Amino acid sequence: MDRYRMVVLAVSIPFLLVSFVLFLMPSDMPANDGILSTNRKLLATYVVRTDSLSNRYAVIFDGGSSGSRVHAFCFDESMALVHIGDKIQLFEQVWPGLSSYAGDPKAAADSLLPLLEKAEDVVPKDMQPNTPVKLGATAGLRQIGDDASEKILQAVRDLLKTKSNFKTNDDWITVLDGSQEGAYLWMAINYLLTNIGKNYSETVGVVDLGGGSVQMAYAISEADAIKAPKVNQGEDPYVKELSLMGTKYYLYVHSYLNYGLSAARAQILGVAKDVENPCILAGYSGVYTYGGVDYKVSSPSSGSNIDECRKEVLKALKVNEPSCPYTECTFGGVWNGGGGDGQKSLYVGSYFYDRARQVGFINASDPVAEVRPVDFEVLAKRACQTTLEDAKSTYPGVDDVDLPYICMDLVYEYTLLVDGFGLEPLKDITLVKQVVYQDSVVEAAWPLGSAIEALSSSNTIEWMR
Ligand SMILES: *[C@@H]1O[C@H](CO)[C@@H](O)[C@H](O)[C@H]1NC(C)=O
Ligand SMILES: *[C@@H]1O[C@H](CO)[C@@H](O)[C@H](O)[C@H]1NC(C)=O
Repeated sequence: MDRYRMVVLAVSIPFLLVSFVLFLMPSDMPANDGILSTNRKLLATYVVRTDSLSNRYAVIFDGGSSGSRVHAFCFDESMALVHIGDKIQLFEQVWPGLSSYAGDPKAAADSLLPLLEKAEDVVPKDMQPNTPVKLGATAGLRQIGDDASEKILQAVRDLLKTKSNFKTNDDWITVLDGSQEGAYLWMAINYLLTNIGKNYSETVGVVDLGGGSVQMAYAISEADAIKAPKVNQGEDPYVKELSLMGTKYYLYVHSYLNYGLSAARAQILGVAKDVENPCILAGYSGVYTYGGVDYKVSSPSSGSNIDECRKEVLKALKVNEPSCPYTECTFGGVWNGGGGDGQKSLYVGSYFYDRARQVGFINASDPVAEVRPVDFEVLAKRACQTTLEDAKSTYPGVDDVDLPYICMDLVYEYTLLVDGFGLEPLKDITLVKQVVYQDSVVEAAWPLGSAIEALSSSNTIEWMR
């Protein structure tokens, strides 16, 4: 019975499509247009409509520290995103993350099974063998050490080989370093803004402030790419050469380890040595733990103070040390990429967006917001004048654990943009959470970049120098 229904459907769908096209055809079509031409038009329409057979899927696992997520994307033959059901992507998550199973690699891998099943539900069976599945693990696995993380990755590879029909490869199941994450995010955002294929000068740069590290990525000219300084053995080169959907880009990308927001707090508390820190809101005394180290924290009796806090943050950022070995640096002796048009427009995400939203500066319903670095200084001034007690009612959107640090976080964000990356305080920048794409909003996150790379043999990323 079911099979009979399928056959009827299979036969009738093309027929219905053709009828639909006939129905839509303008009735004032010239009479002499002839049956042949009409047939040709029908055929053309029919071919376009069945082209969905050439859609391709990619399944990307994001192994984060707090949880694991799966993203599945579907692209048509022109590499545009196609809906999966009523969504622009499949997105599912489970908690906790892979690193919570450090002693039990098999349990870690098995924790992905429910996500794998969801992905198998949306990718047609016959397409699964041609659908790449990749896993990029981020901060959590980086922290548990090479040996423990490699065992987990191996268990995931075994799981995908034995329990799924997707196409996989040992090299696709890895720990992502910060600069790969930055490059993928650049690809994702520029793809969603339909910039891929345009001159590098029309692409946007990205800054991604995570917990452990902060990444900057933007496209530069070939002439600047050639000038990129050579790095020491074992360090990531500054420039990646990308070939994306037929266009070549030179991508400057750098990840500043230990300058993410949570790591920066530890640095700022560490440089002060003193338990009393001018970035901490009046009325707080406690312990901050990062990377297994405890920092005793309390506010000076006079409370937090933006000018004093700025001094501590500048010390932590080491803006002028080590001294810049190149013509131009950001901070910490890092080459700044030479600037240029690929950085004209900057999309700034993760904690920059989150803190601005939590303190009520931007609207949670806005996927992007146009702001200026100086706005963070204004927000910081207000936060640094607040006591912990008052902050609870002033900032209902900020989590309790973050409240004592709200002055510090905002001062850090301002200082990182202006003193670290050298942006003009009045420059327009875009805070980004999601990007509007066709009739959807899509998360500005690295898995989409990884999917784009996975899907075309002509998409390659190579390190230069
Ligand atoms: C790309 O942009 C740069 C900088 O604006 C410009 O010099 C160059 O001519 C452009 N190249 C093309 C192919 O348009
Ligand atoms: C946020 O945006 C929504 C929709 O545009 C609007 O209704 C709401 O009033 C805004 N809230 C704030 C705090 O601006």
